[in-house]
Amino acid sequence: MPKINRRQFLFLSAAGAVTASVASSALGQNNRNPFKSQVSLPKLHTSNHGSLELDLEASSHPVSLGGKRAYLFSYNGQVPAPRLEARPGDAVRIHFTNNLTQPTNLHYHGLHVTPTGNADNPFLEIPPGESLTYKFTIPKNHRSGTYWYHPHHHGYVAEQVFGGLAGLFIIRGELDEIPEIQAAKEEFLVLQDFALDGSGRIQSPNHMAIMMGREGQILTVNGQVNPKYAIPSGGLLRLRLLNASPSRFYRLSLENHPFYLIATDGGALGNPVEREELLLAPGERAELLVRGEREPKQYRLLNLPYDRGGMGMMGGGMMGDGMGMMGSGQMMRSSQTNPQVLATLTYRGSVSTLPLPQKLIPVETLPEPRTVRRFELSMAMAPGMGMAFTFNGTAFDPKRVNTQVRLNTVEDWELVNVDPDRMDHPFHLHVNSFQVISRNGEPEPDRAWKDTVLVRGGETVRIRVPFRDFLGKTVYHCHILDHEDLGMMGVLDIQAPT
Ligand code: C2O
Ligand code: CU
Ligand code: CU
Repeated sequence: MPKINRRQFLFLSAAGAVTASVASSALGQNNRNPFKSQVSLPKLHTSNHGSLELDLEASSHPVSLGGKRAYLFSYNGQVPAPRLEARPGDAVRIHFTNNLTQPTNLHYHGLHVTPTGNADNPFLEIPPGESLTYKFTIPKNHRSGTYWYHPHHHGYVAEQVFGGLAGLFIIRGELDEIPEIQAAKEEFLVLQDFALDGSGRIQSPNHMAIMMGREGQILTVNGQVNPKYAIPSGGLLRLRLLNASPSRFYRLSLENHPFYLIATDGGALGNPVEREELLLAPGERAELLVRGEREPKQYRLLNLPYDRGGMGMMGGGMMGDGMGMMGSGQMMRSSQTNPQVLATLTYRGSVSTLPLPQKLIPVETLPEPRTVRRFELSMAMAPGMGMAFTFNGTAFDPKRVNTQVRLNTVEDWELVNVDPDRMDHPFHLHVNSFQVISRNGEPEPDRAWKDTVLVRGGETVRIRVPFRDFLGKTVYHCHILDHEDLGMMGVLDIQAPT
């Protein structure tokens, strides 16, 4: 029977009217239950004596999703996948087996590790039935933060992530050691959307949904529909959020309740920043602190409507109302018009008031760039492919290097969204995180490390990237994973310094 730790206990107690004994017997039953993920407590694998080692199997399993049977893809039978936790300097070994019926591989999104060999290499292919051991080392100076892992085999990424294949990869470090952060109760929220038919199978998207990027109407947090999280009056809650949906954007608001942003994709900010809303594009992460400073009642974590552009070309005028119901009934543009409830925050008990941290981790100022490059993001007709999604008019070809850079340099990349359909494209770069310098010429207010940045229709975003530590080929791409599968990915070759 799995051991129940204090955090899980607190979580279970908070989740509703469960006592300790009920909670542990629910976990006990889990072993006999045909549903692998009866309770959404993704297994935790932590590193030990400098090494994180585990077996990981991708397969198709029935799991329980919001209380219903669902035939999803999963890692070790869990949706979301087991959470991995390591520290700077640790050696990672993942004995991976592909028991899907299609090729796959693993990507470690946001980690600053080598892209070559059996490491964070998106060019690897693990055929059905085969295994591979991933081996890499987390650099000693790696920033602590909320990273994640998911499949990255070109052509199958959207389908496999939409099937449920995604898990957190946490690097513990300096942010976790700040006393005020240590005093906070920590919760992880993996946001995934699913589309299931009446028998619990994943619905296949139609052509239009693929062009927009597939979305599902079932919104889950850690595989649960509207889970509850508890906060004591006076206490601090640290929410670590991951948008693991292939295309859905989450425009988050905690109804009538303030929160503070403390970290983005690549780790901590310099200090907490109060926010009313937070937009998380696919692939992005954020960490929030919530203070138990309001009237003790319930507050809903909402997903507000967001229009991510696109599909104007499918019928101009008839889309004018922004609702865009196509004749065949599928929703276009904004896929929702009302706020949806993702989770509920409940005040429970009280503690003596915990302060917010004043300072977090300083974010370094990067030197001026040696090179400035321009990337045009667009949908285009590609020879032999029909409609493709491209960078500078070119669709992905694993054999072609699109961009060459030198190790130990800093570059500015100008990401220009020239999509005629004004569709949003979240841009993601592997291996090296960057800082956003400006949007449409407006300096970015808070300096932060990012690996995924939203480039809205018509927008120009300037990012600054230091290329450090690792040589070799890797990729950048749109994190609307259907767009990546449809060609919106480029090969980056990081070459030895001259
Ligand atoms: Cu999260 Cu290249 O991906
Ligand atoms: Cu990535
Ligand atoms: Cu895109």
